[in-house]
Amino acid sequence: MNEIKRIAVLCSGGDSPGMNCAIRAVVRTGIGAGLEVFGIQKGYAGLLEGDIRHLDVSSVGNILQHGGTILQTSRCAEFMTAEGRKEAANLLKRKKIDALIVIGGDGSFNGAMKLHEEHLIPVVGIPGTIDNDIDGTDYTIGFDTAVRNAVEAVDKIRDTANSHARTFIVEVMGRRSPAIALKVGICTGAENVVLPIAAIDYDKIAADIDRGIKRGKTSSIIIAAEGEVEGISHTIQKNLKDKFGLQAHVCILGHIQRGGNPTPTDRLIASQMGQMAVEALIGNQLASATVFVQGKVALSPLKDCLRKKNEFDLSDVKLLTALSI
Ligand code: ADP
Ligand code: F6P
Repeated sequence: MNEIKRIAVLCSGGDSPGMNCAIRAVVRTGIGAGLEVFGIQKGYAGLLEGDIRHLDVSSVGNILQHGGTILQTSRCAEFMTAEGRKEAANLLKRKKIDALIVIGGDGSFNGAMKLHEEHLIPVVGIPGTIDNDIDGTDYTIGFDTAVRNAVEAVDKIRDTANSHARTFIVEVMGRRSPAIALKVGICTGAENVVLPIAAIDYDKIAADIDRGIKRGKTSSIIIAAEGEVEGISHTIQKNLKDKFGLQAHVCILGHIQRGGNPTPTDRLIASQMGQMAVEALIGNQLASATVFVQGKVALSPLKDCLRKKNEFDLSDVKLLTALSI
């Protein structure tokens, strides 16, 4: 077993607020433990380009309150190939980097797992995606901030909706994950939520809006999860008009959800995960992930966190339905 002395950290996939807190914790925990820490710019693409720099204590000063990532991030097709990963492993070896910490989603974790399996590079994954959709962890860094951003936006939209007695379809991010839509729906008192895990029930949406109008509601908000591609809300708008003659306005929140200063929850969990990731490497846990289970940060085998979550706690759907009568 080789002693780990030099470690590197990178961000991969979509950025998420709190990534900077995790980077800061990795760097300062590493240095505190006597390790040398390196930052890789632009994810796996930067690794393949050799875009690697030494990070000291000051290089991560004054970053934890900022969204995005000081290391930048990317999606990298070349790393999907065995050739690309071989080149990345060779580069790490040439730079005498003993281990890699990857902050990202399930795709980034799959890349890290392959790097470990094919080239024996010790890796630790830190879950960072606003979608909160990685198997094996109840939480991924950035989710709380994205929900906060969306809730603030929907509250503003509600002002206009009320003033003009309008129906709005507000589209939130989440790709195949219902997590953001569900939480935002509950926290904004939405009349209906459209999730990517179920067929769209237009009769129910129309009935919910109609019931609200009849009991004197001055507005309706439908939260729609974007699904595979952005723009589902336009389809919903058209169908409501064509089938029921209902007029609805569309607002796609887009990337404002992913930016901005991380919430205290994201700062705390990211800091704890960053620290634990370094401790895992020092303790020779060579292919692990930091996870959040039963309200605590813990360590898990990376292989248990490689898939997108396909089971969500749908008791929140029940709650939303019960409260939006
Ligand atoms: P996320 O990590 O947020 O799920 P992506 O799925 O876009 O984001 O993955 C980010 C990057 O991780 C990809 O661009 C690619 O470089 C790498 N990656 C994703 N899936 C794999 C895979 N199956 N094998 C190797 N690398 C992968
Ligand atoms: O995975 C995070 C996420 O923000 C998804 O919610 C969204 O579908 C996707 O990334 C958008 O990706 P990008 O803006 O990077 O193309």
